[in-house]
Amino acid sequence: NYYAILMAGGVGSRFWPVSTTEFPKQFHDMLGSGETLIQKTFSRLTRIIPKGNILILTNEKYNDLVLDQLPEVNPAQILLEPAMRNTAPCILYASLKIKKQNPDALMVVAPSDHWIEDEQAFTDNLQKCFDFCQTNDALMTLGIQPTFPNTGYGYIEFDKSDVNEVKKVRQFREKPDYETAKQFLESGNFLWNGGIFIWSAKSVLEAFAKFQPQMLALFEKGNDAYNTSDEKRFIEENYADSENISIDYALMENARNVFVLPAAFDWNDLGTWGSLHEKLPKDDSNNAVVNAKVILENANNNIIRSDAKKLIIVDGLDDFIIVDREDVLLIYPKNKEQDIKRITGLASEL
Ligand code: GDD
Ligand code: MG
Repeated sequence: NYYAILMAGGVGSRFWPVSTTEFPKQFHDMLGSGETLIQKTFSRLTRIIPKGNILILTNEKYNDLVLDQLPEVNPAQILLEPAMRNTAPCILYASLKIKKQNPDALMVVAPSDHWIEDEQAFTDNLQKCFDFCQTNDALMTLGIQPTFPNTGYGYIEFDKSDVNEVKKVRQFREKPDYETAKQFLESGNFLWNGGIFIWSAKSVLEAFAKFQPQMLALFEKGNDAYNTSDEKRFIEENYADSENISIDYALMENARNVFVLPAAFDWNDLGTWGSLHEKLPKDDSNNAVVNAKVILENANNNIIRSDAKKLIIVDGLDDFIIVDREDVLLIYPKNKEQDIKRITGLASEL
């Protein structure tokens, strides 16, 4: 009775110009490994979840990309969203379908764009969470040891004196401001939310009933349609009426039955070029090169990617992101990587 909800509907705008709204990062081979991020995530999940029980949630626009990249998936496992409404609505929709199919289902909700190398440790952790959720009414998340006050993550406060492996969460705070994140880090009682959730269909739907009753009512109107030929039409007609909100704000910040298992594996959410740089193989001068033929002199700590099959020559440049595409050439300082989101906006206005 193990299921997975694989979320693959985000845009990854900080990875522009490789990641675009037409072709987001989860469908790219960001690591130069020969596999795209969604392919890696899918195969990681199949270590513990039966292939047929993995639902892929994404925008209508990306249906062909999913079909292409995951040919082993039955098209019925791909749930298409007619509008971008963030993660809460898509998780609710999939949870209702799963509950209808199997009222005792346990599920993992996973992003499609993370780096996790130690798949055995990942699988062992998931197994522990499933075991816990089997006997407890719990909303679980995997906690990551924080290393700096990153404001792009959720923070989880737990009780340090709690000797249990699975720890009760005192508070869940999504994306705090910098000062708050710094305080959290200094207190030593906080973990980052890894964005991977584990719970039973029953527990998550109870949480929606408590904290998002309107959203639940909207999607419950489709109960008769789910897993029938009427489902697609119901979703087409109703999905966009849902509030636009992430699961972190919708449930996790409000629920009292949140538990965390500190993750036993290295994790990187590959959120920016800089975090990708950390995970790529580097030359002696700490340059990471993906897909490109290069000549580098006096160049340190750069990340260089080419999808345009040109030779790239760099001399006298440190700490830059260089991305060469057919239509765009980006040369951008690494320490301003968060600004790429804004630049994408400017570029689309040209
Ligand atoms: N299907 C679908 N539909 N997927 C979506 C949508 C959507 O509308 N929006 C985002 N996703 C997918 C993304 O592709 C990604 O795989 C995952 O859901 C998480 O969305 P992000 O947009 O990347 O969230 P975040 O990084 O800002 O924050 C979340 O992850 C952090 C860890 O990486 C939160 O859970 C944080 O608390 C957490 O620390
Ligand atoms: Mg993310």
